Amino acid sequence: MILLCSNGLTSHELLREAQKYVGHAQKAALVVTADPQYKEKNYHVERCCKQLSYLGLETEIFDFDTQPAEALLQYGVVELIGGNPYYLLHSIRQHNGGDVLRRIAEQGLLIGWSAGALVLEQTIGLIDRYLPDLNFVGLQDRAGLGLTDIQILPHYSKLQKQDASTEEKCRQYETENHCAVLRLDDGEGVLLEKEPRVIRLSMKVQVAGVDFANPLIAASGTFGFGREYGELYPLSVLGGISCKGITIKERPGNPPPRVTETPGGMLNAVGLQNPGVDHFVQEDLPWLSKQGTRIVANVAGNAPEDYCATVEKLNDTCVDMVELNISCPNVKQGGVQFGTTPEGVFGITSEVRKHCKKPLMVKLSPNVTDISEMALAAEAAGADAVSLINTLTGMRIDIRTRRPIIHNNTGGLSGPALLPVALRMVWQTAQKVKIPIVGLGGISTWQDAVEMLLAGATALQIGTVLFTDPYAPQKILEGLLKFMHEQGIQSLSELTGGIRPW
Ligand SMILES: Cc1cc2nc3c(=O)[nH]c(=O)nc-3n(C[C@H](O)[C@H](O)[C@H](O)COP(=O)(O)O)c2cc1C
Repeated sequence: MILLCSNGLTSHELLREAQKYVGHAQKAALVVTADPQYKEKNYHVERCCKQLSYLGLETEIFDFDTQPAEALLQYGVVELIGGNPYYLLHSIRQHNGGDVLRRIAEQGLLIGWSAGALVLEQTIGLIDRYLPDLNFVGLQDRAGLGLTDIQILPHYSKLQKQDASTEEKCRQYETENHCAVLRLDDGEGVLLEKEPRVIRLSMKVQVAGVDFANPLIAASGTFGFGREYGELYPLSVLGGISCKGITIKERPGNPPPRVTETPGGMLNAVGLQNPGVDHFVQEDLPWLSKQGTRIVANVAGNAPEDYCATVEKLNDTCVDMVELNISCPNVKQGGVQFGTTPEGVFGITSEVRKHCKKPLMVKLSPNVTDISEMALAAEAAGADAVSLINTLTGMRIDIRTRRPIIHNNTGGLSGPALLPVALRMVWQTAQKVKIPIVGLGGISTWQDAVEMLLAGATALQIGTVLFTDPYAPQKILEGLLKFMHEQGIQSLSELTGGIRPW
């Protein structure tokens, strides 16, 4: 079986399709020849290995330049990473790798992405339209290995954003060569079954111009900076990650006890413990940027100057979006004090807007009389989106010591108990603002997710459920896919705001 894709197995959809063809294979080879400079140190190698190990495969690195092609036959699954298609093709030809790859496709699963997919096709000629400079080996004959008649254009949307003539060049190529090119986005692919089957990102959503492969974003403060969950599964199964709230300087957070369970949820008063923005940019972002998911930086501060200085430090980084946390109920200064009046929300949002080059999402507090007024103020001040809700202030008391269980006395309530409140608030807000809403608060199942979309959310965040079930994202996504299929829904955005109120 052959799977051609844009950027590796960077979506829930591709992982579940690939899984079907892994069969009894135990070992995979990741072919890194397409990157002649970095080889096994290539930027994508770590996440590709993680994706293959998620499929239950022990993965070894392979290079046509240094190993005999026949050695590949011991692997049930072979993945060719992207990079330089001219160089890769040249190397495969030089080392007689074509026949070996053909046999793997017949007996096992052969995955090629980007350059690794192009070389399996009849020709790599399409790449001449886009990146002819890659041909430093001076390859004259553009004939590929001919394992398929399909031709793909990988990274399609990304290319379009970089070069407005992307589509025109592709059409010209199609006309001149009397062929059809399959435009693929990252996370998409085509399985060469009897009839080629295209795997699209049917759950993709767009918020403030940022494309998410699916609507599930890990909620801030419940996913750290991703590393711990990254041990369990490829983070590219998520649409995005909203990182723990970061501030201009490191913060130790509140003294313990900081969390306690409640019926249907939990209380927390972590108090924005974080390593500070410089540490985030230097230590966490480089790792996060390799995971194949969108990065939302959740920003907090004591004063407007702190927020502005922090977002400025993010301007020239690979962060996809900033989420302004003006709703943290667990800190003495800053946080929710900016988020409880329309004037406060307008003031901080417009101030930050002046300093923030990234798409800006404002995270709203439920601890207000009318959250939709806050959303309107954020919109008027230039926010590109709003996310709601943050935690609802609550408390528990130890009846023997008569002390509040949380050292901060009060804490933020999160988890399933919050869902009805969050749904109501998203629904009310959706009737007021035009900017997209990212809905969160108590989502634990795919049914909750559907409700949140129907209430008016374009994308979703999930938080507390991850503590009891780290694999909740996969279950929610699987449920959403089945629901879409059952209901004949082509795109998840059809559900957004689809509620039929009495
Ligand atoms: C332990 C913990 C830490 C949190 N830290 C942050 C934070 O740093 N910034 C923020 O905006 N929200 C933070 N939140 C709030 C969550 O992002 C989310 O808004 C809230 O938990 C409701 O969603 P859930 O019920 O799915 O958890 C935190 C929540 C928890 C439980």
